[in-house]
Amino acid sequence: MSAGGGMKDMPGHVAIIMDGNGRWASLRGQPRSAGHRQGVEALRRTVRAASGMGIGVLTLYSFSTENWSRPAAEVRFLLELLRRYIRTDVADLHRANVRIMVIGDREGLEPSLRGMFEEAEALTRENTALKLVIAFNYGGRQEITRAVRALAHKVAAGKIAPDDITPAVIGNHLDTGGLPEPDLLIRTGGEQRLSNYLLWQCAYTEFVFIPDYWPDFDADRLHQAVETYRLRDRRFGGLTAQTA
Ligand code: FPP
Repeated sequence: MSAGGGMKDMPGHVAIIMDGNGRWASLRGQPRSAGHRQGVEALRRTVRAASGMGIGVLTLYSFSTENWSRPAAEVRFLLELLRRYIRTDVADLHRANVRIMVIGDREGLEPSLRGMFEEAEALTRENTALKLVIAFNYGGRQEITRAVRALAHKVAAGKIAPDDITPAVIGNHLDTGGLPEPDLLIRTGGEQRLSNYLLWQCAYTEFVFIPDYWPDFDADRLHQAVETYRLRDRRFGGLTAQTA
């Protein structure tokens, strides 16, 4: 950890809420689907930029557990877009030494989509550059609930004692177990809330909210958000060297 006043290191883990596709499209008199399509282009730019900057983990909120309540046609379009993205980009990502991971609830997903996730993860498992974590059918409370249930089953089976449960144990039972917590969370689109994203993991995360809609996101905006982060003074509840 750096002392107060100093410039921090690069964030090891950046999480993004990619918001504003629909508004981006409406502003142009286009259907929401056009915004999502441009959103995929922004996603590609961002993955490339993050990889080039040496960011270790990039976690993207691609579809929340709440997104199922959108009109059926939009849900279908988003799922198809994700399928197409995986089909067309996984080989490139693999060549770029990117490791793909998917978090969220896979229970109840179409077997073919689950199969695509599993294949992409297996193909890229040994890759050592950027870890690209795609949050799909993801909700923070649901993730914590699944972890608590898994722990309850272990207690009931006598594998662990109730007092063995610590914050670290809970963290390791989340979908993100083994990953570092996000240093920086970026949300585009002007809203300033977490929307059930990485609730446990963001206890000490720095938030940067930017007004631009997601389809306009690019390497410059990522650099700016990272610079904002690096100038922040993270204290983790303690005091910095300057104020101590
Ligand atoms: C928010 O825009 C974005 C989403 C609901 C999902 C993010 C999806 C993409 C970036 C494109 C899809 C890419 C993949 C790989 C699935 P919004 O629709 O909430 O925008 P609004 O707030 O303006 O309505």
